[in-house]
Amino acid sequence: MLKDQDRIFTNLYGMHDRTLKGAKARGHWDGTAKILQNGRDWIIEQMKASGLRGRGGAGFPTGLKWSFMPKESDGRPAYLVVNADESEPGTCKDREIMRHDPHTLIEGCLIASFAMNAHACFIYIRGEYIREREALQAAIDEAYEAGLIGKNACKSGWDFDLYLHHGAGAYICGEETALLESLEGKKGMPRMKPPFPAMAGVYGCPTTVNNVESIAVVPTILRRGPEWFASFGRPNNTGTKIFGISGHVNNPCVVEEAMSISFEELIDKHCGGIRGGWDNLKAVIPGGSSVPCVRGENMRDAVMDFDALRDVGSSLGTAAIIVMDKDTDIIKAIWRLSKFYKHESCGQCTPCREGTGWMMRVMDRLVRGEAEVEEIDMLFDVTKQVEGHTICALGDASAWPIQGLIRNFRDEIEDRIKAQKTGRVSAVAAE
Ligand code: NAI
Ligand code: SF4
Repeated sequence: MLKDQDRIFTNLYGMHDRTLKGAKARGHWDGTAKILQNGRDWIIEQMKASGLRGRGGAGFPTGLKWSFMPKESDGRPAYLVVNADESEPGTCKDREIMRHDPHTLIEGCLIASFAMNAHACFIYIRGEYIREREALQAAIDEAYEAGLIGKNACKSGWDFDLYLHHGAGAYICGEETALLESLEGKKGMPRMKPPFPAMAGVYGCPTTVNNVESIAVVPTILRRGPEWFASFGRPNNTGTKIFGISGHVNNPCVVEEAMSISFEELIDKHCGGIRGGWDNLKAVIPGGSSVPCVRGENMRDAVMDFDALRDVGSSLGTAAIIVMDKDTDIIKAIWRLSKFYKHESCGQCTPCREGTGWMMRVMDRLVRGEAEVEEIDMLFDVTKQVEGHTICALGDASAWPIQGLIRNFRDEIEDRIKAQKTGRVSAVAAE
């Protein structure tokens, strides 16, 4: 288990002073100018050596992403954009950082922007995060006032401006290119990639989009060294990680732990176990709503990292762990996600626009047990036609939970259909 002194986010072990004074007392903003003096290449090499993989869900190596930015300016300004549009169902980790440790994020913005030759950074924050944006804005104002950002930031000779931009409630604006469109004042619709944002991002300029947690860990990695960070977890899955555990555990929580901790240890140490005991565990969604669910018995020994969760047919995603006990109607739980994705589809591409509605309607009948058994395979086939055939990952995200349901709980779907046909159960009304 991670020791308190190795936690980056001190708020998670009881220090709730989010002011600049409190942040400084915990070591933030200490020698920031000296870090910058080491130069851009040094910072990027350190980030590569730390093995940090993006914490937004996809796990793309952060140092590598930074290295895609042009080394020399071609006349266009470069930008860092921080994706704080945290909207993935089950996910509330970045919220904790912005509420309680905003200065760690702001310092990370300065260092990362410097490393990528950007004099400006936008933090795009989810519209519903009102308290978080107040906390973050107050911290940004404090940092400006103290000369930590703005002209000659930290007396480093580097000018740096930080802007907080509010989203307006669309889930799709968390997709990085839809976010850029929204930031530019347009409708939040994903762009085709390539070109990736490093080539043409906000206003057509070189841009890197990083998740809040990815940026907020940067100052500590550079202070304590990449070897320290890489000493947690396993090769290719290094560092500390914030896990958000919700659902049927005794004590739902958001906690920073070492990457690659086992699911059982995480739940027993931090959540007081599964409600009703381990035998009562039915299913787990280990990485936010976009990843497939896993049967409880396959999850207990699972290792919580990017690579290992593939072995149980899922992935780490945002590390938002949704625990479901045997009281859960798993078909209805996944139907609810289908409804969500149908609602949030931007409608730009046909497989997603039509497929999400089609899948939700079949799921609706499966919840009631009113479908034919053959339709289960047909539904699986439709998920395969949506997966990989859309502009952005929302299409995949709508398909994977249903695939997980059919792979893991086909018996339950069939039983409900058969029971409905023989009149043994009354229809389960979908909301
Ligand atoms: P992605 O794999 O397409 O990209 C991940 C990042 O790597 C992006 O910044 C992308 O620009 C970069 N990248 C990928 N390939 C590249 C290449 N060849 N060259 C340069 N850069 C490259 O995944 P995406 O669509 O950005 O994210 C999907 C994930 O987001 C899902 O797995 C889901 O877990 C997560 N997600 C998180 C949410 C949240 O609230 N945090 C909300 C919804 C989804
Ligand atoms: Fe829009 Fe869905 Fe296509 Fe993404 S996959 S661009 S959300 S229609």
